[in-house]
Amino acid sequence: MNQLTLTDDEIRLIKTILAGLESRYRSAEDSEFLRYAGFYAHDLPRRVRAFLHDFKSTELPSGMMLISGYPIDDEKIGRTPKHWKYRSDVSPALAEEMLLILFGSLLGEPLGWATQQDGHIIHDVVPIRGHEHEQLGSSSQELLTWHTEDAFHQHRCDYLGMMCLRNEQRVATNVASIDAIELEPLEVKTLFESRFTIRPDESHLKKNKSDVNNNTGMDNQLEIAYERVSRMQTDPEKVAVLFGDPQSPYMRLDPYFMHRLDDDEQGQAALDAFISKLENQIHDLVLQGGDFVFMDNYRVVHGRQPFAAKYDGRDRWLKRINLARDLRKSRSVRVTAESRVVY
Ligand SMILES: [Fe+2]
Repeated sequence: MNQLTLTDDEIRLIKTILAGLESRYRSAEDSEFLRYAGFYAHDLPRRVRAFLHDFKSTELPSGMMLISGYPIDDEKIGRTPKHWKYRSDVSPALAEEMLLILFGSLLGEPLGWATQQDGHIIHDVVPIRGHEHEQLGSSSQELLTWHTEDAFHQHRCDYLGMMCLRNEQRVATNVASIDAIELEPLEVKTLFESRFTIRPDESHLKKNKSDVNNNTGMDNQLEIAYERVSRMQTDPEKVAVLFGDPQSPYMRLDPYFMHRLDDDEQGQAALDAFISKLENQIHDLVLQGGDFVFMDNYRVVHGRQPFAAKYDGRDRWLKRINLARDLRKSRSVRVTAESRVVY
């Protein structure tokens, strides 16, 4: 794991930058803030910028990086929300959300999904009562099976960024990198072929839309987006699990949402071998308040260990963003060139 711990001087500089931004913007999803985030990020401490730059440009081994040591004001952020849909006018974690966006902007462009968390760019990952046994970030008692984020979608993120506001129960995220495993040549060849299907995960389904009326004026578009997800569920296209360079491949998979290939013994055998090799490398990563983790979504899979949520305002609370290296690739499913929401 590539890790950087912020020094006192770096934290002071970061806080000065954030204080200035907080006086100008009421939301880290403000379109002007998002437009200039990559520019504001130039003011971040040089060592942090170099660290993120190296991670992006050299594809550092392990495919993950951690920036730790940012102090969280526990009183200021308040209680862990009961649901991601409950958002106050101004987020109590505005500064932390802005910092997540600033760090992320050095890797890519923040991007959200119309069909996930009501189109918000910054997601709250909190346990939700009633979701205990779902395959959702808001579940708790069930193992959240490891996966590529939004593996089913061609516009899935290049990087997944998460910051931890609190995790008193030390709930473990689990992770594995493709760098840690070795595949046989036939397995590589087979996994590079379009013979697998990956259905959308539950977080994109209409049943998980909130009942909050966001009044975005995009209801038609949203319906079309849900229909698209629904088609991907009933009639998923065949895709390759590996892509890029066969010597050092990228991956996309979400075993829980992949059908068994009853009529393709070779494909299923290669997939089983791949899954079991990754499974053997899965290890825990316990995020602490003030940790920022960035995962290369082409090279790392992630999940979460089961835990008993308390719903007492002190449960594990993460903020999550998706980052695309090239926003243009999703232009056909975004409303304007600058818009950050994939429909
Ligand atoms: Fe995930």
